[in-house]
Formats: sequence, C-alpha cells, structure tokens
Amino acid sequence: MKLSHAQISFKSSGTPVADDFSDVYFLDAHGCAETDYVFIEQNDLLNRWLQFELSDSISANVFVIAETGFGSGLNFFQTLHHYSQLLEQGHTLPRLYFLSTEKFPMTMADLQQSIAVYPHLSKWVDELLPQYPMALTGCHRMHLWNGLVTLDLWLGDIHDTLPQWLNEHDGLVDAWFLDGFAPSRNPDMWNEALFTQLARLSKPNGTLSTFTAASIVKRGLVKAGYKLTKTKGFRYKREMILATFTELAIRQPTQQQHSIPYYARPAQPLLKHVTILGGGIAAGCLAYLLTQQGIEVTVHCKDAALAQGASGNDLGGFYPQLNAQASIASQVHAASFVYARRFYDALLSQGAEFGHAWCGVLQVGFNDKVQQRQQNLIDQQVWPADLIQGVSASQASEIAQVELPYPALFIEQGGWISPPQLVKAMFALAQQTGLCQINTQSTLSTDVITNLTSDPSQAVIYATGAESARLAIPALPYRLVRGQVERALASTQSTNLQTVLCHKGYFTPAVDGIHALGSTYVKDDVNCEYRHSEAQLNLAMHQQSLVACPWIQAMPLPTSGRAAIRCSTPDHLPLVGAVPDVQQQLIDFNQLYQAKPAHTYPQAKNFKGQYVLTGLGSRGLTTAPLMAQLLVSQLLGLPIPVTQTVANALNPNRFLIRDGIRRLSYLDRFTAS
Ligand SMILES: Cc1cc2nc3c(=O)[nH]c(=O)nc-3n(C[C@H](O)[C@H](O)[C@H](O)COP(=O)(O)OP(=O)(O)OC[C@H]3O[C@@H](n4cnc5c(N)ncnc54)[C@H](O)[C@@H]3O)c2cc1C
Ligand SMILES: C[S@@+](CC[C@H](N)C(=O)[O-])C[C@H]1O[C@@H](n2cnc3c(N)ncnc32)[C@H](O)[C@@H]1O
Repeated sequence: MKLSHAQISFKSSGTPVADDFSDVYFLDAHGCAETDYVFIEQNDLLNRWLQFELSDSISANVFVIAETGFGSGLNFFQTLHHYSQLLEQGHTLPRLYFLSTEKFPMTMADLQQSIAVYPHLSKWVDELLPQYPMALTGCHRMHLWNGLVTLDLWLGDIHDTLPQWLNEHDGLVDAWFLDGFAPSRNPDMWNEALFTQLARLSKPNGTLSTFTAASIVKRGLVKAGYKLTKTKGFRYKREMILATFTELAIRQPTQQQHSIPYYARPAQPLLKHVTILGGGIAAGCLAYLLTQQGIEVTVHCKDAALAQGASGNDLGGFYPQLNAQASIASQVHAASFVYARRFYDALLSQGAEFGHAWCGVLQVGFNDKVQQRQQNLIDQQVWPADLIQGVSASQASEIAQVELPYPALFIEQGGWISPPQLVKAMFALAQQTGLCQINTQSTLSTDVITNLTSDPSQAVIYATGAESARLAIPALPYRLVRGQVERALASTQSTNLQTVLCHKGYFTPAVDGIHALGSTYVKDDVNCEYRHSEAQLNLAMHQQSLVACPWIQAMPLPTSGRAAIRCSTPDHLPLVGAVPDVQQQLIDFNQLYQAKPAHTYPQAKNFKGQYVLTGLGSRGLTTAPLMAQLLVSQLLGLPIPVTQTVANALNPNRFLIRDGIRRLSYLDRFTAS
C-alpha cells in the first residue's frame, strides 16, 4: 500500500527536521559522532565483527542489525562506512544484514540532501539511491558492496511491520538500533507492543542501544526481558540505554510470538549443495541467487536446451497484476514487481545481456466495465503513482505513440523481456562463479532424490513448471493452462508502438519487426503444437478489445508463434517452500477447524531436503525473482524478505491447511482428478 513521504525542512546547518514531529533526524554537526557513540560503540559492533567466529553455516556467518526508523539512512551509511573500512583493512567479517523500518520514507532528494553534509558517506548513498524504493509498504530488499551487505527496508508503521518479520529460529537480531523521535514527540511508537517485538526478534544475548533514557523505555525493555546497563549519554545527555536480551522465557510458544507451526519454513543451516530440476525462469533465478551465496548448484533440465518450457516465448510482458484493494495476491505482485525490477537492473549492471525494454506497460481501459474498475483503483489510492497511475486517452496515445483512444493505467517501470535470453543470462552468471554445473536432457529419479536429500548438506528444488504435475511432488493442486503467443509482423503504423499494451491479452512493441501478441488460455490442455485456429482467436481478441484502434484492425493474421503450458494454482499464487508430506499433514492438521491456539499444533512435516518453486502462472517474469529470493533465504536460514502473511500465502501446503480450517476434504477437492 502507498505511504506518505516525510515532510522535511532543513536547518541552515543542513540538518533535516521532520515537520510533523518537530524533531531532528540527527544532531546538528554531530550526526555521525552520535551514531558512532550511541549505536556502533555501545553495541560494540567493531569488536563483535572482528571476533566473530566464522563457521561452515551461511546463516551463522551473518550479523543482523535492526533499526527502528531508517529516516535519512545516516545510521545505516555510517555503519557501512565502518564495516567497509574493516574489510578494506583485510579483515574477514560476517556478512551484514541491516533491517530497518520506516513509516514516513524520505524522498530520494531529501535523503540525498540530508546526507550531503557527510561527504565520506556519499559513496554509499550513490550505491543505494538507484535501488531506493518507492513509498510502498512491505519489505524492500537491496544489496550493496558486492552483496556483502543486504538492506531490508520495511516500509510501514513499525507496529505493523515488526510483527510480520519471520523468526523461525532462535532469534533474528544481533543488535538493535532503537532510534526514533523523542518518546515525548512520538508516543505512539514507543509502547509495550514495540518492546515485545524487539524481544521476540532478538537473539539470545542480542544487544540494544538507544539515545533516550526515558523511563517508559526503561520499564518497557525490562518487562520485555532486557537487562539494562546505565550509560552516559552522547555529549550533553546525562544518560542513555544499553540493554542485553537475556530473558528467553518471553519467547515460549505460549506467547504466540513464533510463526505458525503449520506454516513453518524449515532451513538447512549445513547446506552446501543444491540440485535444481528445471531450466526455466524459476531455475535460473535460483541458480543465480544460490551461487551468489556460495552454494554449489547442479542443474538437471529434462529438455535438450534451457528455456524450452513456458520460459521459451520470444517476449513477455513485465508488469504486476494489481487490484483496487491491497489483497494478498496484489501484495505479492506489487512486492515481486519492485523486487524483480531491482533484480534485473542488478543483473544488467553485472554485464548480463538479455533483450528487454523498460518502456512501461499501459493497461488499457478498453470497455466501460474495465474503465470503472480502473477508476476505482485510482480512487482508492492504494498504490503509489510510481507503481501505477491513471492516464487519459490522450496521455495513453502520447505514451504509446500510436492512436489509443482509451484511458489506461500506466505502469512506468514495466516493459518487456526476452525470457529465454534472461534465463540463459542468469545461468551464465551462475556458471561464472564456478559453482554451477548444468546438465541438459537430464533428470533425477525419485529414489536418487530421496537418497540425496538424506544428507543435510544437500537439497533438491523442483523448478519444473507445468511438469511438476507429472512428477512425484505429492498431491499439490496444479492448474495447467495452455497458451499461445503470436509472432505478428509489424505494419508501418504498429511499428511506432513504444510501450506494452495489455487488456485481455498483451501486445509488445515490435522487436526486429515482430510484435508478440499474447495469448490464449486453454485449460487442462498440455499439448504444445502451434495452432492456426488459436492464432485467429488471439488476433480477434486483440481486435475486438481494441476495436477503436484502426492500426490493430489492419493487422494481418499471424502465421507463426509458440505455445507452452502455464503452471498455475487455484488461488493464482506461486508454490514456494518445502514439499509437504501431504498424508502426514492431513492427519496432523485435520482438526484445524476446532480453532485451537496455533502453537498447540505440531510443526508441519515435509519431505526432508525437498523444495518446490513453481505455479508462476502467467506472470513468471514478475514473480520468479522474489519467489526465488524467498526460497533461498529460507533454505539458508537468512532473514525472509516478505511479510509472514505473504510467506504463508505462498506455502505449498496452504490449500490443505485452509481446508483443515474449513473442514473440507482436500484430497477430494484437489487430487481426485
Ligand atoms: C503463452 C504464454 C505466455 C506467457 N506470457 C507471459 C508474460 O507475458 N509475462 C510473464 O511474466 N509471464 C508470461 N507467461 C508465464 C511465464 O512464461 C511462466 O510463468 C514462466 O516461464 C514459468 O517458469 P518456470 O521456470 O516455472 O517453468 P518453465 O519455463 O516451464 O520451466 C520448467 C523447466 O523444468 C524442466 N523440467 C520439467 N520437468 C523436469 C524434470 N523432471 N527434470 C528436470 N527438468 C525438468 C523443463 O525442461 C523446463 O526447463 C506466459 C506463459 C505462456 C505459456
Ligand atoms: C530520529 S528519526 C531516525 C533517524 C535515522 N535513524 C537516521 O539515521 O536518519 C526517526 C524515524 O522514525 C520514523 N518513524 C516515526 N514513527 C514511526 C512508526 N510508527 N513506524 C516506523 N517509523 C516511524 C520517522 O519517520 C523517522 O524517520
């Protein structure tokens, strides 16, 4: 959902002030010194990093700092400054995850101006700004310093965001920077719910420091399980708080602070090697992200070459599917889209080459009903304009550079991508690490997989697209839908099209004189031959939808194209996570309708070491990168980049859990056919 930016004034010294709170973001001329004293020194970060005992486990080699109130990012940049100095001195350090929260994000310009008074930080600001998120609630994951530093910026009210952080293990945070406007100026933030969350998320013996010594903070932290140490405050301040989390009792399951056991996401801390079955976008994203983490990957792709399945179409539209309400599905799409755009830009900056254009996408209001729906989306103001905005018919024509007499929704950061080129580029980057081996015309039998995954250093991921339904991934509800995309010769008029148009189908700008016209939907048909009859239907669908566009009416019938099978699910969301032991889970969770407290149920039983990433449906270009990032983070026991609600909504066992809650028969409903 959309957030408001902070209203900032700048003092003559250059220090930013939040108008709504009448408080400064940092002290005049002493911002960095205050960060150093209050947060970096009191949490003893430099020594803790230097003395960090690196182990065999990736998750154990990570140091997690979490902050309340990202603001100008000064604390983050200054932390990075110290961290990078140690690295440059040749020290081996744990990788850094910096998780921050912000309800009123600064605009990029305000952030830049705020930090300009500290030129030694400009290098980090320059690295962050191209990735800096739009004002959209949720987690925005960014990578800096060649991936050694991950910034998860959680936008939204802290009382909404912190409860959504997944804490599957024994705590998440090594050191809290408890920053914020003074408690007297922002009492809504500093309350018991906040202190409870800090404790829920803290690692045993995790530390916390804060500039304030307000008694409400002291009392709240003690009650939440922190042991306080009285410390001299920065400069003229008499006192500040330094605290250590010692009270483990606070995190007993009865406190209902853990994630829900039936949606548990198992990690494999000893993971060294992952076998991926697949050769499409899902497999490519996984291979790239896993090798970036130093994990060895072996890919088995059953086809003679990569990207022969759904990811083999020449061109695909890149855009999210958003509704007027921030439904879970819309949240998944919005979060996936902004992450994917950052992910693709990062690939490009690493030298990856794949056909694409960030030319924007116009969702055309091609009839009254669609126009009403679009107007509703605009009126609700749920999404930031830099994600999606309404445009008039004349603006739409201006953007498209062809006659388009319809109002539309414009997704400026969208465009088109060549999926097969993208897939190959991701695998090429994975191979460049020396950690990725690819076998085509190859697969593994169930016995080999079972044998392999008995070793905790091994995992197998099914990224097998529509084939998943045929494999031994047990009893998950797949929906297979054939689709055909046409290769349509550009005409003198259509060649001017400068943006992707979508309505019932999509129409890309011409690339090498050819438009992609997508696509047909034929349920439960798994044949992939090209059909002239579908080409007719496809063109007719475009011509009927955009009936007022003469240039489309003049398009000749395409004579070539490509068909493939989409793998979707009943709720149109991907399947991302451990492969559930359906038989066992049906026994364990068949009485969920009794609505007992969640913690009284056992952890979900899954097939050890086996995971799935499929069900990308008709928007794989949008969802695959974040879904892969989620699965890789889960597997390695790293902070999860989506809300708990979204993670649960993607869990492959969600259908059986929901049926348990509603007292329905999962097996009859989803696996009978
Ligand atoms: C007609 C059509 C148009 C589309 N248009 C768009 C669009 O415009 N925008 C968009 O974002 N998305 C679009 N999609 C959806 C998108 O293409 C898919 O979501 C995405 O490609 C799915 O990727 P995947 O990796 O999950 O599956 P796939 O690309 O199908 O890959 C599955 C891979 O698994 C391998 N495999 C299967 N079984 C085994 C096995 N047993 N062992 C080893 N390997 C195996 C296959 O060889 C294949 O390489 C479209 C899809 C279709 C069909
Ligand atoms: C003192 S500033 C933080 C300074 C920041 N750490 C820096 O380095 O610039 C406090 C921040 O908390 C944010 N904030 C205030 N109330 C909040 C809430 N309820 N949830 C999340 N963030 C909040 C403010 O918008 C502001 O950016």
